[in-house]
Amino acid sequence: MSAEVIYGKQLAENLRQEMKEEVSILHERGLRPKLVVVILGQDPASMSYVKGKQRASEKIGMDSDLIELPVDTSEQELLELIERLNQDETVHGILVQLPVPDHISDQKIIEAINPEKDVDGFHPENVGKMLTGQDTFYPCTPYGIMVMLKRADITIEGKHVVIIGRSNLVGKPVGQLLLNENATVTHCHSRTKNLRHHTKQADILIVAVGKPSIISGEDIKEGAVVIDVGVNRVDGKLTGDVDFESAKEVASHITPVPKGVGPMTITMLLHNTIKAAKRIHNG
Ligand code: GUN
Repeated sequence: MSAEVIYGKQLAENLRQEMKEEVSILHERGLRPKLVVVILGQDPASMSYVKGKQRASEKIGMDSDLIELPVDTSEQELLELIERLNQDETVHGILVQLPVPDHISDQKIIEAINPEKDVDGFHPENVGKMLTGQDTFYPCTPYGIMVMLKRADITIEGKHVVIIGRSNLVGKPVGQLLLNENATVTHCHSRTKNLRHHTKQADILIVAVGKPSIISGEDIKEGAVVIDVGVNRVDGKLTGDVDFESAKEVASHITPVPKGVGPMTITMLLHNTIKAAKRIHNG
């Protein structure tokens, strides 16, 4: 048996088409959702991500600004910029590309962004709302995974989800969102003993580690759903954390890399920005 491949790319395109229509309607009503992305320095991977965010915004007709700052920008200067963007009524979403250089505290920056404009969903107020099951901005990759599972008609309630990786960006929040939907959630990480014992129990296995082929068919239960969040470059080629060829012979559903989870992340950022604009507009 070969697994059904869940293409986030196709779903992302469909959702972006719907958003394009929504943005056009909002424009007619005098509301112009706007995202501002801030990047410090010229790290090629980060630059490529933020350019992708820019392009995606433009393609759905959404206003967006990219603010490129030198790598030696001080923490104070960045905090002042964030405060100006917080006050700017034409700006609805603020995203500071992480990681920031070592002389600046990630957490301080995250906490400086007005939670109403925190389209990353990283501010502690929004994280707390997510934890307590309230409506808020959810971090984009976890939210994208939830939408993919739902659109693929995969039941979450009562399922045993095993997550490998416990980052604030992906592992922890995706576990929380799944728990909110009544899954039984196991978090595995670098100190977990006998990883395979856990992965073999998963009805839904989410792999967000950043190590090529850390999971293969032998680690997966027959009929499991496998979500690969890895983005690794091997010999110039993009690959995930899962050995796709062996995994697809065991899984019932699997996401590829590329064209899997990746395109959903930017899509949910656009979604969050439109949501922020509507919320701010409606007071
Ligand atoms: N760096 C890598 N992914 C992300 C993201 O989703 N948001 C921000 N702000 N920085 C990132």
